[in-house]
Amino acid sequence: MNDQPFDPVELLGQRVQAAIAAAAPEAGPEADALISPSKRAELGDFQSNAAMPLAKRLGMKPRDLAATIVKKLDVADLCEPVTEADIAGPGFINLRLKPEALSGLLDRLDTPDLGLPAPAEPKTIVVDVCGVNLAKQMHVGHLRATVIGDTLARTFERLGETVIRQNHVGDWGLPIAMVTRKIQIELNAGRLSLESLTLDDLDRLYRAAQFECTGQGKALEIAAKYDLGPKVDAELCAQHEEAMEHLEEAKQTLVALQSHQPDVYTIWQRIYEVTMGACLEACEILHTRITEADNAGESSYAEELVQVVDDLTARGIAEEHEGALLIRLDSAEDGKIAQPCLIRKRDGGYLYATTDLAAIRRRVQTLGADRVIYTVDARQGLHFRQVFAASRKAEYATKPGANGPSVLEHAAFGTVLGNDGKPFKTRSGENIRLCDLLDEAVERAETTVAAKNPDLAADERATIAKAVGIAAIKYADLSSERIKDHVFHFDRMLAFEGNTGPYLLYALVRTRSVFRKAEETGTPLDHADAPILISEPTEKALALELLRYPSAVQSVATLLEPMRLCSYLYSLAGAYSSFYDACPVLRAASDDLRRSRLRLCALTARVLEDGLEVLGLPTVERM
Ligand code: ARG
Repeated sequence: MNDQPFDPVELLGQRVQAAIAAAAPEAGPEADALISPSKRAELGDFQSNAAMPLAKRLGMKPRDLAATIVKKLDVADLCEPVTEADIAGPGFINLRLKPEALSGLLDRLDTPDLGLPAPAEPKTIVVDVCGVNLAKQMHVGHLRATVIGDTLARTFERLGETVIRQNHVGDWGLPIAMVTRKIQIELNAGRLSLESLTLDDLDRLYRAAQFECTGQGKALEIAAKYDLGPKVDAELCAQHEEAMEHLEEAKQTLVALQSHQPDVYTIWQRIYEVTMGACLEACEILHTRITEADNAGESSYAEELVQVVDDLTARGIAEEHEGALLIRLDSAEDGKIAQPCLIRKRDGGYLYATTDLAAIRRRVQTLGADRVIYTVDARQGLHFRQVFAASRKAEYATKPGANGPSVLEHAAFGTVLGNDGKPFKTRSGENIRLCDLLDEAVERAETTVAAKNPDLAADERATIAKAVGIAAIKYADLSSERIKDHVFHFDRMLAFEGNTGPYLLYALVRTRSVFRKAEETGTPLDHADAPILISEPTEKALALELLRYPSAVQSVATLLEPMRLCSYLYSLAGAYSSFYDACPVLRAASDDLRRSRLRLCALTARVLEDGLEVLGLPTVERM
């Protein structure tokens, strides 16, 4: 009984499908019941459109097939009796729900778990979130990896699974060694102090170090090709040599870092502290559950890389090619990937992919992941296809004792664009700092909130503005299709109308306000077990929306698409608003009706609250 769906569309879908299977076994199990809301309310609540395409496929008359389906249909507990008279046009089957069926379903939903009970055997789900890089400001791209990742993690938590967030911080390798060395030089020259080091300093020095270590190989090629003359050649050569010296020193710093040599390691630790301090602050402001405990940066795998590479070589998974080590990805089930996965360069250096292989091994074999989800930019698609295929080939993706590999998924997201449709940057082409963006959202929200409600005290206004601003930013991100690029537009995301975060926060405040009014007017709140009476069309529409909640949450988990829950909550809020406009609650025509409607209001408030919590939007009591 408990794993039965709540949504009548799904329930009727199952029943009609069973009837189809009985009426036309040759249709096969995949025959879809094609249930949709009725186009004409006077004919019913739902209709099945299955008979037409099926009849065509089987060479039958659609109305005859519809009649046989109706005969086999077992929906007496849900619908008014269905007869041949309910077949319309070429073969639509009209279905009308019994009011008591709807109340019964709502009764079943109105439990503490809102139709989403914890599973008997939770799965372990690892979610790769955030993924910031040391010595770099977080920018709007990290917003998506943080917000979408945390929401997916929350969804699985809500579903009762065991969730492990992993922040795969880019904190190791040559670029980090470059900036470490740069800072060491600045420290020695007395131009910097570790104590007062800021993320802005780091950001600046990171770029300077990158610049210094960039050779002129390309420029030299061009100079040769166009014969730019000995003077240019000499100049470029000198610059190139200098860069190569810087690079050589950075490599030595990397070696020193790898052996935790105190003078460089202390600097690295400070870089880590400053970057992660800012990152975790942003995670907190963003109302995520990402904490320091989730940090598992690239550096945490440093010791394992030799072992991984030795293992892969010894078992013949990796092979040498011109001094480099690579894994060919030719297995049939992964579909051949032309580009092999490079795991060690000719100079002995390891790569981003090597670390990700070690990470999969740890996540699956040590942390016990049944499913690993990577919320990372879509542009890393090939990287993940390679790493997933390579780890399956190496059996790193298989839990000890398991029959097959765990599920590895790249929950890829698109780019955040500015109003001009180009990647979101400042006028001068720099990345916009995430912290500035969050500040601006809250500031703008404060203006909007003040305009809407001028009587708020300053501190309450500030609290509300913080929630509204953050909800606006997060919701804008979550409510657009994950894979698509999405336009960052302050005015649109901060609007109190339309499919926005502020609108949903406001909807929750509105559903709660009935109860405040009831208290003020001394109306009894005796609705907890009240029989639910569904009569008005808007009441019925609200009931049907409420029943869709469990599937909406589950679909986020299945498709890794938070948008599903956003759209759901938006239409629930709309249904509530129509209901509230059309149906008096506290002044309902009878006591029974008042209690029933209060119960619907309470259930709506709980579903909205629960849904917003799954999405990770901060909520407010007043707005
Ligand atoms: N630091 C990486 C970047 O900024 C993202 C890390 C994603 N996670 C992973 N396991 N590779 O591109």
